[in-house]
Amino acid sequence: MNPELRVLAKRYAQALQEYVLGRGEAALQEACDLGRQALGDGVGVHDMAAIQHRALIRSLMRVRTREESSSTLRAASRFIVESLLPFEMSHRKSQEVNAALRESEERYRSVVDTARDIIYTLSADAKIMSMNPAFETVTGWSRTEWIGKDFLPLVHPDDRPRAAEIFQAVLKGQVPPIFELGVRAKSGFTIPGEFVATPLARDARVVGVLGVARDITDRKRAERALRHLNEALEEEVKRIAHALHDEAGQLLASVHIALADLAPTLPPPAREKMTEVVRSLKDCEDSLRDLSHELRPMVLENLGLMPALRNLAEKVARRNKLSITVSASGNNPARMPASIESAIYRSTQEALNNVVKHAGARRVRIRVRRGSRAVSCIVQDDGVGLSKPLRREESTGLGLIGIRERVGALGGSFRIASRPQKGATLLLIVPLQP
Ligand SMILES: Nc1ncnc2c1ncn2[C@@H]1O[C@H](COP(=O)(O)OP(=O)(O)OP(=O)(O)O)[C@@H](O)[C@H]1O
Ligand SMILES: [Mg+2]
Repeated sequence: MNPELRVLAKRYAQALQEYVLGRGEAALQEACDLGRQALGDGVGVHDMAAIQHRALIRSLMRVRTREESSSTLRAASRFIVESLLPFEMSHRKSQEVNAALRESEERYRSVVDTARDIIYTLSADAKIMSMNPAFETVTGWSRTEWIGKDFLPLVHPDDRPRAAEIFQAVLKGQVPPIFELGVRAKSGFTIPGEFVATPLARDARVVGVLGVARDITDRKRAERALRHLNEALEEEVKRIAHALHDEAGQLLASVHIALADLAPTLPPPAREKMTEVVRSLKDCEDSLRDLSHELRPMVLENLGLMPALRNLAEKVARRNKLSITVSASGNNPARMPASIESAIYRSTQEALNNVVKHAGARRVRIRVRRGSRAVSCIVQDDGVGLSKPLRREESTGLGLIGIRERVGALGGSFRIASRPQKGATLLLIVPLQP
């Protein structure tokens, strides 16, 4: 018996002897305290039994009569029960805790097992430690084919260097932003996956990676379809712009010529009227020209987004007696991919249409900011603001839906904020890399 146990045993024997000699409740309380202390010191039930055994023998050695012996035994048995109470309570508590733990683990298991996303863990040496059943449904591989193996071969070869880099970063304790990787399916196809990865820690040490991967095939397909649709729309708009410019323009030009021929043959009062008609015709021609240029902004194609936006702002401002300023900030003003320039241009165009139609504004600010990863554009007016928050299902207009789709097809996002009588602000963000 080690020295600490010996001290405990001595106190125990004394307390038992006092109880046997009739010290009553106070000695029983002492039994309970001793039990609690023993439990706290990590003394096991086995050692307690040994201590009790010794104490009982010592008490029995002092006994002289048969009555004394049976009363000592009775007292000792109560004393023993009392000193074991803390053990009993702790045992019950741990049973409850275990049951709660089991229940929570079962709940967690069922969430993981029924999840549609792939949930996996990787060890620090890049081996796959676990995967939920979704892995089989999504990729067609069976889990046993991969558990215990290196995870990198599951990633499309082009994405492997990036996957390895992110893996190392997570092992260092970082939580990277959501990322996309191609995953090799059993069929040989590559599945586009969206990933979230976090460090897996044990005792404050990173021992691996916990990740969730989502199959985004449908989203990618929809985005591609939208992009095609936008391109087709853009072609259609070009065709209409040409028709307006060339055909309607030519028709108007021939009306001009006919009028010019007619003018000398008219009496002076009618000639004056004719001059007015010619002026209106000229205005009509100008607006047609403006419109066809807005529809097919050659400036956008030839010079880029900022000159095209300035051009558009100038025309809309002139036509509607508005003040519109356009500013650019951020790095690298060079050209961006045509799809991005065109999406921002068309969205701004619709935002300006809305300002003219709904806002009753006097001033509009257009601000474009180009960052290293994304470009943002803000169109802010000082009009009446939105009468109520927009609900997609209620809106009958096509404008904002068009903006959402254009920007969404490029993986970007769009938001409109407004306060009554304080104007509306439209913000769109488009990533520069898909
Ligand atoms: N700048 C703005 N100021 C105030 N209200 C606005 C502004 N922009 C949009 N709205 C509100 O949002 C609604 C939806 O706009 P959206 O462009 O989708 O449709 P629309 O302009 O009514 O129709 P369409 O664009 O199809 O011609 C508008 O009807 C209007 O009530
Ligand atoms: Mg509109």
